[in-house]
Amino acid sequence: MAIYFDENAQRFHLQSKQTSYMLQIIKGFVTHLYWGRRLAENTCRFPRPIRFGDRAFSPNPAGEGNEFSLDTLPQEYPAYGTTDFRVPAYELQAENGSTITKFIYTSHRIVQGKPKLDELPATYVESDGEASTLELTLVDQLLHVKLILTYTVFEELDAITRSVRFINEGPQQVRLLRALSMSVDFADAQFELLQLSGSWANERNVIRRPLVQGLQAVESRRGASSHQHNPFIALLRKGADEDNGEVYGLSLVYSGNFLAQVEVDQYCSARVSLGINPFDFSWLLLPGEAFQAPESVMVFSSQGLGGMSRIYHRLYRTRLCRGVFRDQPRPVLINNWEATYFHFNAEKIVQIARKGEELGIELFVLDDGWFGRRDHDRSSLGDWFVDRKKLPNGLADVVNRVTASGMQFGLWFEPEMVSPDSELYRKHPDWCLHVPGRERSTGRNQLVLDFSRPEVGDAVVQMVSDILSSAPITYVKWDMNRHMTEIGSAALPPERQRETAHRYMLGLYRVLEQMTSRFPHILFESCSGGGGRFDPGMLYYMPQTWTSDNTDAVSRLKIQYGTSLVYPISTMGAHVSAVPNHQVHRSTSLTMRGSVALSGNFGFELDPAAFTEEEEKLVRAQVAFYKEVRGLVQFGTFYRLLSPFEGNETAWMFVSDDQSEAMVAYFRVLAQPNPPFTSLRLKGLHAEYAYSVKEADGAEEVYSGDALLYAGLNVPVLKGDFQSVVWRLKLVEKG
Ligand code: DGJ
Repeated sequence: MAIYFDENAQRFHLQSKQTSYMLQIIKGFVTHLYWGRRLAENTCRFPRPIRFGDRAFSPNPAGEGNEFSLDTLPQEYPAYGTTDFRVPAYELQAENGSTITKFIYTSHRIVQGKPKLDELPATYVESDGEASTLELTLVDQLLHVKLILTYTVFEELDAITRSVRFINEGPQQVRLLRALSMSVDFADAQFELLQLSGSWANERNVIRRPLVQGLQAVESRRGASSHQHNPFIALLRKGADEDNGEVYGLSLVYSGNFLAQVEVDQYCSARVSLGINPFDFSWLLLPGEAFQAPESVMVFSSQGLGGMSRIYHRLYRTRLCRGVFRDQPRPVLINNWEATYFHFNAEKIVQIARKGEELGIELFVLDDGWFGRRDHDRSSLGDWFVDRKKLPNGLADVVNRVTASGMQFGLWFEPEMVSPDSELYRKHPDWCLHVPGRERSTGRNQLVLDFSRPEVGDAVVQMVSDILSSAPITYVKWDMNRHMTEIGSAALPPERQRETAHRYMLGLYRVLEQMTSRFPHILFESCSGGGGRFDPGMLYYMPQTWTSDNTDAVSRLKIQYGTSLVYPISTMGAHVSAVPNHQVHRSTSLTMRGSVALSGNFGFELDPAAFTEEEEKLVRAQVAFYKEVRGLVQFGTFYRLLSPFEGNETAWMFVSDDQSEAMVAYFRVLAQPNPPFTSLRLKGLHAEYAYSVKEADGAEEVYSGDALLYAGLNVPVLKGDFQSVVWRLKLVEKG
């Protein structure tokens, strides 16, 4: 058991492989003592107990002396209105309009394993021995509302998850105005804040800034986790970098509006909190009802950002992603989107697929445009039946032709949307998010279906299932191409309208659960105009995501690097596309495009008929090479060597679990005049092993692990822009 309780001190100690987290009950309040490096098991006396002092303008709860104020008390789930002026973790309104509450600890239980979360995606255990869970029960005596704070410790995987549940056991209805998933009060604010932010086609840039007094936040109000900000932040101790120093990661298993914030208070303590965005949110709890907040995943590493990422990768790859594909090598695919956009016919599709197959590609994906009358993006979303003009003999005919000689077939859907010009919309104009009497804003000419309504979700499940059952389809790309406006539901009463965005997410998760359990043999890839919903919530249902609509190799260095801070490589779709690139109009070498894409779930997004003979030869070699290394890439341990955010060069590597194999990839964006000689110090290898090291066409050399780790490997002298080098390392001898 990794959770200890000291009854005398009323102290809890949660302990994983390298992390300790301590809290203490003081006067019924759940206070935060410590989160950081692992402390020895029987730390009975804690050398940094919470201190109290009389502070001006920090009032005192009734019955307490001048030295006790919630304003200065480090807490685990703080309230507003009862002497704490910092940002609260929750806000609950009673029938009389008041938001004053007092949740006092009443009991706790410690159990092996990890209870499931109601209706929400979450990390899981495969056996109870993998984790222990602490549930603290707090009660507001006046309202008879119960608050359960849940903490799970994954001992081996080295992570702590938190979630929160409100249960209304009283006679009156209450309204949650805010219900974050976690809050921690650090004793000091000597941190940098790291966020993953950007825009469409430019997702997850790594941005760092020092904390300052006041509030700093990243959030989404778009109805999706968003391209603009990822539901993740990290706090880095001064000087912490890729390999060294203390880093605290906070990630939210949720795909909708979120808030991640840090408030540095007057005494320079830092309150960090994460959860559903309270903006435009409220939730009515009738007597007997409960509200479950999403799960937050907290990771501490004393080995810099790299250590943090490796913990997230292992946890998310093995205990968040699910289904048969979780541990299976992902197929090399070719997608017709950038090859044809909406303009194709059956012959063209079969031609692309056949050519792909000839090159060694394993899966063909038919993207947007195969249904309704979808010749452009102004119609047909919602009409999930085959366009007989494009595919006159139906979908099954094309699928059978493509799969006849072993190629797999995948299909694109955008099930959460409806085009105003569609049969579905004409039949059910109230099935989209809207507000009566108000105009309906469109995005990419489409409206958002109201997934908060079970009947809408059920109809979508039926339509998509019918198509998937009609042909041997083994892959689905589940897209979502606009953000929410006029967020209202025709099915909800006025007092529940502000529940719509969260109910939408619950409805979406229900639909995804149904789809993935109905079609367990289908590999689902989520997408939202590329990486607009690259979040842990979606990964629970779909083990991979289309990382970005931007397929330019140079842009992808940053996008894939930033994404790798939290998300495992097996979750990242990465494709070679034609040049000049369709998003940024840059022409990079095919070698570099290949090396960037084979650093993820490898694929192509172009017309292979356009390849020259020489290019074909190279692509064939890239595909064959990827098949050899994909186990390593998709399921090995990932190390970042050089950051594209810090210069002209990027490098990363993948090491197998037994350290017997590795792949290193180096990229140089622009040629430099008279450049210095570059070498790379490798990571993750076994110092005492000897490895053969081979670059694509280069000679094979044998070096010791320690020399590769501590002295490094020379990068060949490169000429011209957009260069890359990939090495393969294999164990030749154990030390
Ligand atoms: C956005 C996706 O990210 C693209 O890959 C493509 O599927 C288009 N939608 C199709 O409309």
